Amino acid sequence: MTGEGHTEVASPAGDPTAPVARELLPMTALVGADGRLRVGGVDLIDLAGEFGTPVFVYDEADLRSRCRDAVEAWGDGVAYATKAFLCVAMARLAHEEGMCLDVSTGGELHVALSAGVPPARLVLHGNNKSDEELAAGLAVGVGRIVIDSFDEIDRIERLLSTAVDHDPGGPTLPSAPEGPLRPKVLARITPGIEVHTHEFVRTGQDDSKFGFGLASGAAALAVERLTELHRSGVVEFVGLHAHLGSQVFALAPFAQAIEVLAEFFAPLGLSELVVGGGLGVAYVNGEEAPPMAQWASSVRQACRQAGIADSVRVTAEPGRSIVATAGITLYRVGTVKHVADHRTYVAVDGGMSDNPRPVLYGSGYEAFLPRAVDSARPIPIRVVGKHCETGDVVVSEGFVPEGLVVGDILATPVTGAYGHSMASNYNKVPRPAVVFVADGEARTVVRRETFDDLVRMDL
Ligand code: LLP
Repeated sequence: MTGEGHTEVASPAGDPTAPVARELLPMTALVGADGRLRVGGVDLIDLAGEFGTPVFVYDEADLRSRCRDAVEAWGDGVAYATKAFLCVAMARLAHEEGMCLDVSTGGELHVALSAGVPPARLVLHGNNKSDEELAAGLAVGVGRIVIDSFDEIDRIERLLSTAVDHDPGGPTLPSAPEGPLRPKVLARITPGIEVHTHEFVRTGQDDSKFGFGLASGAAALAVERLTELHRSGVVEFVGLHAHLGSQVFALAPFAQAIEVLAEFFAPLGLSELVVGGGLGVAYVNGEEAPPMAQWASSVRQACRQAGIADSVRVTAEPGRSIVATAGITLYRVGTVKHVADHRTYVAVDGGMSDNPRPVLYGSGYEAFLPRAVDSARPIPIRVVGKHCETGDVVVSEGFVPEGLVVGDILATPVTGAYGHSMASNYNKVPRPAVVFVADGEARTVVRRETFDDLVRMDL
């Protein structure tokens, strides 16, 4: 990675006043002799000047390499969880690199199809799929449907018996008629495991809106019903699915989930087992997350130990770990306010509308200046946005180099996941552009919203 006149960014661990750790920056990040950060061969300050701010910048090589790692680690069938970050370019990229795509709403399905991803490479998720969403998935022939509730079993049975009988009087499927009418389905099981992560993103525990609980007996009933539907040729019941939660650093809960599921899974003779997503990523200096390959190998080992046959396709649905580190948000500093005896507020031109994670989950981020990436950051600051509430914090406890001034470009790393995808128009702030950088070129993949966009839907 070291190029002419460039050095790799230093990687001091754990010290918030040290330069931002190398591990938090995208794969192709390099610091020029002038101290400025380049990603994908593009100078980020120049990029901010050209494309405006705030802007999400993604290192395309990083995205591609993480997709390839996922396919290598898990094999065919591993699905990118599009909720982490989705646009046409991202859907195409993940598909080109061999991943399936997990879509959990009609909207995500639409974007993936618009990107030209073959329906067979899509996995349809959702705890409350509507008739329309299910029908659309069936009509185009999505590769897998992960069934989440008894109501959904009823719904899919109704839709499919109508379709199989070709009853013209019944509910009609969307016009694309060529999809396979016998979809491959998995049952989503909640194995009763509580992972150590924010409670809002914990999903594997018994008390959950997702899936069929193992402990309550719901899972057994769901399997019974799906087995009947399989026997009568309505669906092809291929496997079980469990997703424990998100931003999970420890691998043990995944192994524990396999242990718990194995006894239930083994006698069913199913061919697929999906452990969901959830692999954590490092957000701040000193944090460390297991690599994709280690996640996969520990799950595989747990499967072997639990006696799950090698012929079973064991796979996963990573979202955050594919896109988080590839993304950086660039903001422009508009106001600096020193409050004596308290702190310095650095206000930027975005905020909770482009990154609601700090306010939702108390998530921590680093702040740095792309013009001085290698500099120590001795000055404590709080980065805030431009929204009309005190909770609008981007980096609660940030540090920057000496000499930050109004007009500076300030960056937050590791904003590639659940930033753009959860962005809003709060205070009628237009959503930022998304720019992919690679090989010295920057290209807009999602244009910045305009003020006209803000009234486009108003009648
Ligand atoms: N599969 C299922 C069924 C999921 O519900 C999720 C995430 C994933 C896969 C992908 O998980 P990942 O690998 O990205 O952890 N907005 C929150 C995260 C919510 C995750 C929801 N489900 C955040 O910003 O932290």
